[in-house]
Amino acid sequence: MLILGIETSCDETGIALYDGEENKIIFESLFSQADKHSLYGGVVPELAARDHTNKLLPLLKKGLDDSNMSLKNIDAIAYTKGPGLRGPLMVGSAFAKSLGFALDVPVIPVHHMEAHLLMAKYDAPQLKYPFLTLLVSGGHTILAKVESSGVYKILGQTIDDAVGEAFDKTAKLLGLRYPGGPEIEKNAAKGEKMKESFPRPMLKSEDYNFSFSGLKTAVLYKVNLLKKKNEFTKQTISDVSLEFQEAAIDCLLYKTKKALIDFNLNQVVLSGGVAANKQLRKRFNEELGKKYTVIYPDFSHCTDNGAMIAFSGFEKLSSCDKENNISVNPRWSLEEI
Ligand code: KG4
Ligand code: ZN
Repeated sequence: MLILGIETSCDETGIALYDGEENKIIFESLFSQADKHSLYGGVVPELAARDHTNKLLPLLKKGLDDSNMSLKNIDAIAYTKGPGLRGPLMVGSAFAKSLGFALDVPVIPVHHMEAHLLMAKYDAPQLKYPFLTLLVSGGHTILAKVESSGVYKILGQTIDDAVGEAFDKTAKLLGLRYPGGPEIEKNAAKGEKMKESFPRPMLKSEDYNFSFSGLKTAVLYKVNLLKKKNEFTKQTISDVSLEFQEAAIDCLLYKTKKALIDFNLNQVVLSGGVAANKQLRKRFNEELGKKYTVIYPDFSHCTDNGAMIAFSGFEKLSSCDKENNISVNPRWSLEEI
């Protein structure tokens, strides 16, 4: 059973072909639009949608050619139905539905965040239900209990900015390019601890929620002060990156540990773009790894990709979409799956 996965929820065009019986990725192709959007300091939805229309067919053709496959080999098509940006989602949905109609194969709508989380099972097949998951991306910061396949209980989430968004906005304040996560990570590696650290918002709240907008504002004040004192240099940019990254990781780590204890769980899956952060992985491994099993997808499968959509599609074969309308759900909650 070969499933084609199509990801277009934001600014990466991802296509992959996955063999469900062999549990093997036949090909995966990705085109990142980051260079285009970095000119504007963030994703421009209209440009993202236009670029997906340009890239989907060539990526599919190249992937099929390189792996000696043809359209005839495709048994089902999975696509990201949401959450994400409406225009970009519509492009992927239209592509998937039209191809499915032409090939007369089932089309499976996939939840983008569930796909991030399920991909951990591809890279770590030993994972057993129930487990805790921390989903950290550009649009979401969710702590959820995974009871069984498709049964999610959201324990907490961000009440304002997503943590990836905070990385991106902080990078912008520091004059670093989009996407900010990898840039902050790179600079933080050269940074030194500052005299005063940034606040850890909501660390002591009794719930499992997060807040990152205050942290970003604290960075803004710091940057303004450094500029006023003529101390806004390469070194202080690195120092602020380090302090921001440590504060964000502390918040994620604290609430994750609290949920593991309170819900008596012994495994946690981290996924989404921010889970590609090496310092975050190091701190989670050091501080939770002795007592709990900490699982991440491979680095290349943390950020958006087509393989996670194809893999998730295979798990969700029974929920194939019988209608031929082109539908998306930009605000689809994990609990509504
Ligand atoms: O999962 P993803 O590719 O797309 C969404 O579903 O949003 O996540 C993108 C986010 C961006 O905010 C990006 O800055 C962040 O993940 N990110 C990182 C790293 N790589 C990507 N954040 C911190 N450290 C990284 N190495
Ligand atoms: Zn994502």
